[in-house]
Amino acid sequence: MADFLSDTSAPAHAHVLRALESANALGNVRSYGDDALTHEVGVLLERVFGTSSLKFWLVACGTAANALALSSLCSPLEAILCHPQAHIYCDERNAVEFYTGGARLTPLHGCPPEAVSAEVLRRHLALVDRTFVHEAPPRVLSLSMLGENGTCYTKAQLRELCAIASQNGLFVHIDGARIANALAQPENGWSSAAELVDAGVDVLTLGLTKTGAMGCEIIVLFNEACSRFPDLRARAKRAGLMPPKMRYLAAQAVAMLENDLWLDLAAQANRMAADLVAATVTIGPETSSRVGLEVDLAFGRSATGLPAGNEVFLRMPVRLGDFLRNCIPRILFYPWQAGDIALTPQSKPDLGEPLACYRFVCSWSTRADEVQYLCEKVEEWRKLC
Ligand SMILES: Cc1ncc(COP(=O)(O)O)c(C=O)c1O
Repeated sequence: MADFLSDTSAPAHAHVLRALESANALGNVRSYGDDALTHEVGVLLERVFGTSSLKFWLVACGTAANALALSSLCSPLEAILCHPQAHIYCDERNAVEFYTGGARLTPLHGCPPEAVSAEVLRRHLALVDRTFVHEAPPRVLSLSMLGENGTCYTKAQLRELCAIASQNGLFVHIDGARIANALAQPENGWSSAAELVDAGVDVLTLGLTKTGAMGCEIIVLFNEACSRFPDLRARAKRAGLMPPKMRYLAAQAVAMLENDLWLDLAAQANRMAADLVAATVTIGPETSSRVGLEVDLAFGRSATGLPAGNEVFLRMPVRLGDFLRNCIPRILFYPWQAGDIALTPQSKPDLGEPLACYRFVCSWSTRADEVQYLCEKVEEWRKLC
């Protein structure tokens, strides 16, 4: 089987499991985060982000991290601006609305598929009238790195968005479910996580689960946003997101952050995504164009054309998609829909049959033979055509 469904399908890394065993061997320790391992997470985060002006909280999944973080930034009377395809808007079953007690999620319509654009944000904010009681004024700009379509903000883009947000009194939240993949791809231009703080990010939900942990996400508040920490902690308790044995979440975080395992594993996943792109290109122009398979240029790419992270979006005839998904052993991947863009023909001649876009996600555990198998099946399809 070749599994490109999601990086959440991947197992936890052995180092994380060993860290859990070591945490267990400590015997009795204090609960609710008042333990040595949780303190160590703080020390590591200070090193990673190059600042001691931070506070953090550990949860087990990305939806809880986003919803809890945003609830501490935004009141029920206010709004959170986001990309129309943002995970918080499309895929979290109103968790943010639930945790905030009814804050509004406002999608910034008109943004390109890959990112929130400064122009659209400016245009939106220019129309905001905070004295107009009928309208929910924005309090937070939420961005995703990687974005839902697999792309990454450059430093310049993030700086500009943060500056606009700050001029308008908004916090900037990053949904960092795949922040490690974003940072670990040199083409994206980030040389350290500290640059996120320099750019003006107020709150980051730092995902480690997709990267290789069993279930560990860290909400990190920076600088002035630290003042929200007591509120966040109280909300965590009320929401049932205060694990009594926090040491086990902390053990995962320490295992991932120390010695940069999180970045190494993300880089490995990114390499497999790059290999997948290279394989689909070198499958032979003959085969690729005959069967109508190509890398989707609208999604998941860095400025230089390499995958911006660990997600690859392939466009192909629906019949080929069905063939790949139904072959034995199975190849697992999801169809991908992002408005009309995914279905707009690119460079290939019209094959006279419906095309669709599909998402292939690599993880630290993706193997070269899974990529190879996918290519063999494409070749098999060509022979059948
Ligand atoms: C960008 C992004 N944010 C948040 C999440 C939520 O994570 P979880 O499934 O752990 O709740 C996901 C999950 O796929 C995601 O892709």
